[in-house]
Order: sequence, then C-alpha cells, then structure tokens
Amino acid sequence: MPLPEKVKLVEVGPRDGLQNEAKVVPMQVRVALVEMLAETGLSAIEAGAFVSPKWVPQMADSATVLRALRPRQTVRFSVLTPNLRGFEDAVAAGAREVAVFAAASETFSQRNINCSIAESLARFQPVMAAARQTGVAVRGYVSCVLGCPYEGEVAPERAAEVAHALFEMGCHEVSLGDTLGVGTPAGTRRLFEAVGRRVPMDRLAGHFHDTYGMAVANIYASLEMGVACFDSSVAGLGGCPYAAGASGNVATEDVLYLLRGLGIDTGVDLEKVAAAGAFICHHLGRDSQSRVARALAARKRAVPEKAALEKPDPGGATS
Ligand code: HMG
Ligand code: MG
Repeated sequence: MPLPEKVKLVEVGPRDGLQNEAKVVPMQVRVALVEMLAETGLSAIEAGAFVSPKWVPQMADSATVLRALRPRQTVRFSVLTPNLRGFEDAVAAGAREVAVFAAASETFSQRNINCSIAESLARFQPVMAAARQTGVAVRGYVSCVLGCPYEGEVAPERAAEVAHALFEMGCHEVSLGDTLGVGTPAGTRRLFEAVGRRVPMDRLAGHFHDTYGMAVANIYASLEMGVACFDSSVAGLGGCPYAAGASGNVATEDVLYLLRGLGIDTGVDLEKVAAAGAFICHHLGRDSQSRVARALAARKRAVPEKAALEKPDPGGATS
C-alpha cells in the first residue's frame, strides 16, 4: 500500500506529557506552551484533562487553561474526560472536543480509572449522549494495545474489541496507545490488521511511546498499513503514571523529521515545535527527549548562522 500523502498529528504533550511530570507546571506556563504549539501549524492539541486532581494533580486547573486559550479557527483544543462530571466541567470551560479513555487490559483499567473495561465503557455512554446533544466531538483512546505493565502481552483482538466498542458508541477517531512503549513493527502490523477489520483505518490513530526506541519504526509500519493520524508529544514529554517504566510519548519533532523525509505533508513547522519544546524543557529543568530537537540545537550551537539558513534534511520535502 502506498504511504499516505498527508498525516494529521495530534499533539498530546500539554496533557499526556505534563500529566506525568513530577513537577506540577504552573497554569500560565501550560497556557504559554499550548499557545506556542498553536502557532506551529498543528490542527489538534490536547490541552488538559478533567480528571480527579487526587489522581492526577498535574492536570488540576485544566478549566483555567482552557478558558485562557485564544480561540482559533485552525486549531482544535481537546481535553480528557473520564466521566460525565469531567465532560460537563470541560464543556462549561469551552471544550468542543473531548476524549474518553479505556484500556485493552483489565488490570490497567483498574489502576488507571478504578473500574473494569466494561464498567468504563458503560461510564462513557452518558458522556456520548451528552456530547451528541451538545455537538461536542469525542475521541476514544485504548491504552496498552501492545502490552500491559501488569498482564504482559495483550492480544490484538482484545484491543480491536475495545476500539470497536468506542467507535460504535460514536467516537469519531480511536487512538491505539502503546502505553508501555514495548511494541515493535511486527506487533504494530498485527495490531492494525486486527483493529482494521473492526474499525475503518481512516478512523484510527497510532499513539506510540519510545521506551525501547521503537516508536518511529512503529509509525513507519503503521504508515505502510495506511494509518494517517498519529499522537505525539513535544520534546517527548510524558509517560504514564500507572505504567511503571514507560518512557515518554514519541517526540513530535522526531515524527515530523521522519514525515518530512518521506515527503508526507503535515502542515506543521518542525523548527517552531522544537522552540516550544525548548521552552517547556527550560521550565521543567530537563533535556528534551527528542533526538531531532537535540541534534538541531547542537547544530545551531556549532554553526549558528549556517544552521539558521539550512533545513535539517536537505533531501526531504517540506511538511
Ligand atoms: P474514583 O475514585 O473511582 O471515583 O475515580 P469517584 O467517583 O469515587 O471519585 C473520586 C473523587 O474524584 C471524588 O472526590 C470525586 O468527586 C472526584 P472526593 O469526594 O474524594 O473529594 N471526581 C472528579 N474530580 C474532577 N474531575 C472529575 C471527577 N470525577 C470524580 N472528572 C476517576 C475515578 C475516573 C475519577 C479517577 O480514577 C480518575 O480521575 N482517573 C484519571 C486517571 C488518568 O487521568 N490517567 C491518565 C490518563 S490515561 C493515559 O494516560 C493513557 C493515554 O494517554 C494513552 C497512552 O498514553 O497510551 C490515554
Ligand atoms: Mg501516551
């Protein structure tokens, strides 16, 4: 199958990234980060989560973040909502898109949202009904599709079942999360083969973590399967508080470099994303997890004037 000509990126750093940082980032810095990302050409940014602050204190204040953002025609800001309460609070703060999240593993579901997979799906029904009534779009997530920190291997059919349930209840897009970052291209292919039999491929997204350094390879394998939507996180921020050992989400900068080299259009400016990554890393007091961002920064330090004039991959098309 030919690779897609265009790919949509969903930037999850301000939510999936920051939710896992030990340091709680002040609300104003979260807003500034989302505003910088909104200037890069990204069309979808997950800006926060309306979850219990006892479970994830880093996402407290998401209502204030959402209210502070300048509305834009070209960018959709979405937030995570685990239940009706979260949905109502999100809509009151101006959300026009939310995301519900389930898991392909029972134990992960219990640890992450304190209920079984079936209970979580039942909990989403009133959210979907309220979303239909208010015209709010809902995205679905399935976590642990390629492995679970408690249960080990996860059968692709299990992920397909949950993805299908989310799609059937009205999620316009279902993101398949390798939460632990253990997947390889072979497993990724098997996953999309199984899920693609139950949900149309153009409604699926890949959400990879880079724990074993396989994220970009898994994205390439997904592209070959016809997947044209990927979640990524500026500077590779993130991980998962309920998946010990999981490192960050794949870095947006790394995905952009791959796609640019393949001549695939994203409409996103890599250098601007790298600048947003440098901004948040400065606030967190740590290095970027993006190899591409680190390479670009090193190059700028080495030859500042020349680097400003050059594209990092002279052979690649603009994306
Ligand atoms: P619970 O303790 O089972 O439920 O939590 P509860 O109904 O008894 O509520 C407990 C407390 O939370 C109560 O407050 C509620 O009022 C409050 P208290 O009476 O103790 O003062 N509460 C809320 N507060 C704010 N917003 C809400 C809300 N709902 C209840 N919406 C619950 C169940 C789902 C709330 C909890 O487990 C929770 O918030 N979990 C969130 C966990 C989370 O955010 N995990 C990370 C996201 S998933 C992920 O990262 C994976 C993904 O990124 C994909 C990937 O990376 O692979 C998607
Ligand atoms: Mg993630």
